[in-house]
Amino acid sequence: MKITVAGAGYVGLVTSACLAELGHQVTCIDIQKEKIDMLQKGRSPIYEPGLDSLLEKNQRNGQLNFTANPHHAYSKADIIFIAVGTPATHDGLADLKYIHVVAHSIAHCIEKDVIVCTKSTVPVGTNDLIQEIIDSRKPPNLKAEVVANPEFLREGSAIIDFFQGDRIVIGTNNSEAALIMEQLYLPLNIPIIRTDIRSAEMIKYASNAFLATKISFINELANICEKVGADIQEVANGIGHDKRIGPHFLNAGIGYGGSCFPKDTKALVQLAGNMKHPSELLEAVIKVNNRQQTLPVLKAKETIGSLKDKKVALLGLAFKPDTDDVRESGSLTIVKELLKEGAVVRAYDPFAIPNAQRILGNTIEYAYDIRFALQDADLAIIATEWDQIKHISLKVYGTHMKDPIVIDGRNCYPLEEIQKYPITYISVEGLTFIMLDRMKR
Ligand code: UDX
Repeated sequence: MKITVAGAGYVGLVTSACLAELGHQVTCIDIQKEKIDMLQKGRSPIYEPGLDSLLEKNQRNGQLNFTANPHHAYSKADIIFIAVGTPATHDGLADLKYIHVVAHSIAHCIEKDVIVCTKSTVPVGTNDLIQEIIDSRKPPNLKAEVVANPEFLREGSAIIDFFQGDRIVIGTNNSEAALIMEQLYLPLNIPIIRTDIRSAEMIKYASNAFLATKISFINELANICEKVGADIQEVANGIGHDKRIGPHFLNAGIGYGGSCFPKDTKALVQLAGNMKHPSELLEAVIKVNNRQQTLPVLKAKETIGSLKDKKVALLGLAFKPDTDDVRESGSLTIVKELLKEGAVVRAYDPFAIPNAQRILGNTIEYAYDIRFALQDADLAIIATEWDQIKHISLKVYGTHMKDPIVIDGRNCYPLEEIQKYPITYISVEGLTFIMLDRMKR
């Protein structure tokens, strides 16, 4: 099939590369010419494991090409995927301006019947709006059927998620369009859920909101565990064995970040509010997460008092491992709080420094080597559980820091490991910080 993907962001690029890998003829379009230039030269604008090789292979064999020309991209396509960004506006709603631009462009450029498939996360009702925009502007003799097909790709494992996802959701009342979409995904052998457009739109928000709730729940519980002397990891293991709860997404830590959970939970809260049905539960989920991101700094103050002029090594800038994405990363909140306290921050991350630098500029120092970040620091905060960070022996903190105090926001080290070294280790066991005072050993 001839497929066009609108948007060369992480969802668009992964979708393009994977559909090309399935044997389709894929064109990916983006309005940012520099991005298209870069991709045409074989360079990916994002770090995503496995993506570079898929892009390279499919560009080389002619299955995948990039363009900034809407006519070239849309005129002959059988299916057009919309994968443009829907960033949050000031009031927390999804900003649909890029969606509108693409819908207009599709309407003006198509020269044959087409299925328009929305991958972007959009508020309930948006696909009906896209259908209206296209219907009122397209040539009257052509058919364009809009289908909701939300993505569930996790950054860092997006390629695996595309080929081995848990489900594919197809939202449409048009059986012909549904059949074509089902055929497209058939080779993946992933369960397909066929539903109406609005339910498909809601499934995406509901999934992300549920997962965010799970994280805030376990973090809230961790705070209670800390007070009563229970271990949150033991508790998570104990409850996770119940099949109705499940073992995943129960890692307590510094809260969720990224381009999806914060934005989608806020959008759902806004949506509910607009419908005069405020979501108290989701409001609490967001509140717990905001508080959780600041806790490492509170714990640092509790431990060493004033942070003024203290040197802090911040380990990890990405919102999670295996991505260079820093959007809504807990690390950014930690930096903001540390700077407010007058601390001097030197941050390490294996991939996310360029993206962090665009936001933080020279308000902090950057280290491409963990040991350099730790050198002479008064305090270390672990914010992202990269392998490069987890696999550093705690001994290194002792050899490089002045008087090693480590606040681990991601539970990277087992207790047996911690007990071997003369350091003050404050484990954010979901913020059950365990203080092992080296003076007592
Ligand atoms: C998410 C959804 O998982 C995906 O289905 C959707 O399409 C896009 O949004 P992503 O944002 O890439 O994917 O990351 P995810 O792996 O879901 O993690 C989100 C955040 O939650 C990260 O900051 C992570 O550190 C945090 N998290 C996750 C926890 O704090 N604890 C957990 O147990 C799991």
